[in-house]
Amino acid sequence: MADAHAARSRLALPLSVRLRLFLLEAAVDTTQRRDGTINRTLFSLYDRKAPADPRPDGSGVSSTDVTVNASRGLWARVFTPSVVESSPSPSPSPRPVIVYFHGGGFTVFSAASLPYDALCRTLCSGVGAVVVSVNYRLAPEHRFPAAYDDGEAVLRYLGTTALPDHAGPVDLSTCFLAGDSAGANIVHHLAQRWTTATATSSPPPSHTPVHLAGIVLLEPYFGGEERTEAERTLEGVAPVVNIRRSDHWWKAFLPDGADRNHPATHVTGDAGQEPELPDAFPPAMVVIGGLDPLQDWDRRYAAMLRRKGKPVTVVEFPEAIHAFYFFPGLAVSGKLVDEIKVFVESIKAKQSSD
Ligand SMILES: *[C@@H]1O[C@H](CO)[C@@H](O)[C@H](O)[C@H]1NC(C)=O
Ligand SMILES: *[C@@H]1O[C@H](CO)[C@@H](O)[C@H](O)[C@H]1NC(C)=O
Repeated sequence: MADAHAARSRLALPLSVRLRLFLLEAAVDTTQRRDGTINRTLFSLYDRKAPADPRPDGSGVSSTDVTVNASRGLWARVFTPSVVESSPSPSPSPRPVIVYFHGGGFTVFSAASLPYDALCRTLCSGVGAVVVSVNYRLAPEHRFPAAYDDGEAVLRYLGTTALPDHAGPVDLSTCFLAGDSAGANIVHHLAQRWTTATATSSPPPSHTPVHLAGIVLLEPYFGGEERTEAERTLEGVAPVVNIRRSDHWWKAFLPDGADRNHPATHVTGDAGQEPELPDAFPPAMVVIGGLDPLQDWDRRYAAMLRRKGKPVTVVEFPEAIHAFYFFPGLAVSGKLVDEIKVFVESIKAKQSSD
């Protein structure tokens, strides 16, 4: 990952992808106001949404939205794989649950946004899991720790409330957290919170049936005051994430006056605040893009988990840009779902042999 020239030559993206990246960047840049707020009406012109759809799609996936907490507008979209009609067993075996957190710098997108509706459908059918995509509250209207609180509220909800009938039986002892970019940041912090006995909010989730079996972090959004080599080298080369946008997103999310060495951002320990990870912190899969300016932070994150004795599977995609999974046509996007399936299956196999 040495020089910008080499990186540029590896950025051989189809024209249709480059066009969509241009539109994404334009939407992000033109809707951001000087004071950090976002013109959401304007962003919604770009951010097209899909409604929930109880009718199975071509892959047999159906979806329903569920309200988790109406007073804070918190809901989630539940995706269910097709029921195998010809199954000889009258009671199908319970499915694992993947609780998904979308990306967007903590500030934009939703569980209904087209690329996320599509990605969760692919995960659902590809992995054979019920996917619960969380529509957490966005910054800067709702700063740290609102998104983490919403994640915790969804896990509590799963522990107490049955999912819609069509979801069929689910196995809450095989619950995964997954997310991309800022959503993967939420995954880490929520896993830490959920597995810490002295949970920040009361009552601690000690009797919950929700057991985190694994976490999947796609190009997680971590950072710090330092500029890493990849951030510097890929500046002006790689799409989506650059230093200006990234600094802006952290400013929108972090408490007023906090810098990027805040523990929400800086989790790798080299700024002096290595996180305490409880024994129950689950095995992790970390997906790293070779053309993603965040890659150094992501490798350091995986190294931190290893130092702390946590099982971690690192999947490196050398040709992957940030948010590559927005583009199902890229070969690497197909590989992603296969890798997640392998990770989920390996944990299920381990659980049933324990
Ligand atoms: C959002 O942007 C549009 C187009 O520039 C503008 O007409 C509208 O007044 C803005 N809305 C708000 C609430 O700022
Ligand atoms: C729902 O959200 C409101 C507002 O954030 C909060 O006060 C309340 O405790 C939440 N309810 C539950 C059951 O968590």
